[in-house]
Amino acid sequence: MEINNIKLTNFRNYTDLSLTFDADKILLTGKNAQGKTNLLEAISYLASLKTIKAKQDNELIKWGENISKIQGSFTKHSSETLLEITLNPPKKKILKVNEIKKNKTSEYLSNIYTVSFSTSDLLLLKGNPEDRRSWLDGAVSSLYPAHADRISKYNKIRVQKNNFLKSLNGNIKINNPLLDVWNEQLAITGSNIILLRINFLKELLKYAKLKHSYISLKEKLSILYDSSIIDTINVENIDEYTSKKIAENFYQKLEQKKTEEIIRAQSVVGPHRDDISFYIDEIDSKKFASQGQQRTIVLALKLAETELIKAKTGYNAILLLDDVLAELDDIRQTYLLNGIEEKHQTIITSVDTLHFDKRYLENVKIYKIIQNEKGADIISA
Ligand SMILES: Nc1ncnc2c1ncn2[C@@H]1O[C@H](COP(=O)(O)OP(=O)(O)OP(=O)(O)O)[C@@H](O)[C@H]1O
Ligand SMILES: [Mg+2]
Repeated sequence: MEINNIKLTNFRNYTDLSLTFDADKILLTGKNAQGKTNLLEAISYLASLKTIKAKQDNELIKWGENISKIQGSFTKHSSETLLEITLNPPKKKILKVNEIKKNKTSEYLSNIYTVSFSTSDLLLLKGNPEDRRSWLDGAVSSLYPAHADRISKYNKIRVQKNNFLKSLNGNIKINNPLLDVWNEQLAITGSNIILLRINFLKELLKYAKLKHSYISLKEKLSILYDSSIIDTINVENIDEYTSKKIAENFYQKLEQKKTEEIIRAQSVVGPHRDDISFYIDEIDSKKFASQGQQRTIVLALKLAETELIKAKTGYNAILLLDDVLAELDDIRQTYLLNGIEEKHQTIITSVDTLHFDKRYLENVKIYKIIQNEKGADIISA
């Protein structure tokens, strides 16, 4: 699978860009702050609605502008898919596949898979739970698009419930059946979100373990899902859980927390509060792993993600590597470049070509990105 071309209008520092990718191995070079990461983000967002840096869609629109458009064409096997996103907040974003408007995120996600790996991912373990949830939900949604719809539904109900909690002004005596209705809906939607997250992590771990033990010389990786609803569980033991069981726990938890939620005027339990921990040989990597050990885990996870996509769908994801080579030592660099099969279209950004070996550079198409008065522009180097 590959991206053939992209067109950007008022996307970050691009005013108007039209670019054709006629290669499998692409290197985007340019000085700092020219637009390299922005271009990767545009590709990732268009293909799979996953951002690289932005936490909110409006960060993607060029400063001083109201509307941004991203268009592009992708090929999988031999069929072409045209994708288009128009951002015009506060209106809902418009998503189109082959020029047909799609109302649900799940209908937009069209089996175009990207896996991105950036310097900020190297901080995935040290970062906050929100970053880990966002990586996880993005990865789950591209394989199981219904997950994205469930998350939007869950968040919508949660916002309505929170507004209601605020309107109670901390008055715990008011017993409103509306709260029970919302809690029931949250329990049903939320339990499916949790179950799919854990099942995905279990599948991912199978591949990540192999990758990880290979580079770390036999350290053992495990993943725990830290939930506010069920006990912290090792994802390999998910079989004892069913959606019904999680939903029951969820509802009970919400009952127990009712007073606290009214006093704090917010939803204090649910998948929006959950987190993941990565353990190496029974040790919590968040607290104790060295920088190198953390990098190995993240690298193993990213390579595992591409293998899982291949195993589940038969497609080779497009790999978007943002500046990571400079950050990895020789062993991990070689491992990354060797771990990527030839068949993947790979788009890498780098300030210069110093970190690439000659053989890699011989087969790669290089584009240079320069920011001028009008916005960022690209020249074929
Ligand atoms: N919404 C936006 N509108 C306009 N400019 C933006 C927007 N968001 C980011 N920028 C600017 O785009 C420029 C390029 O950012 P980008 O992260 O793509 O740089 P880069 O080429 O990857 O640099 P580095 O090598 O330092 O990683 C930055 O100067 C940033 O301030
Ligand atoms: Mg960058």
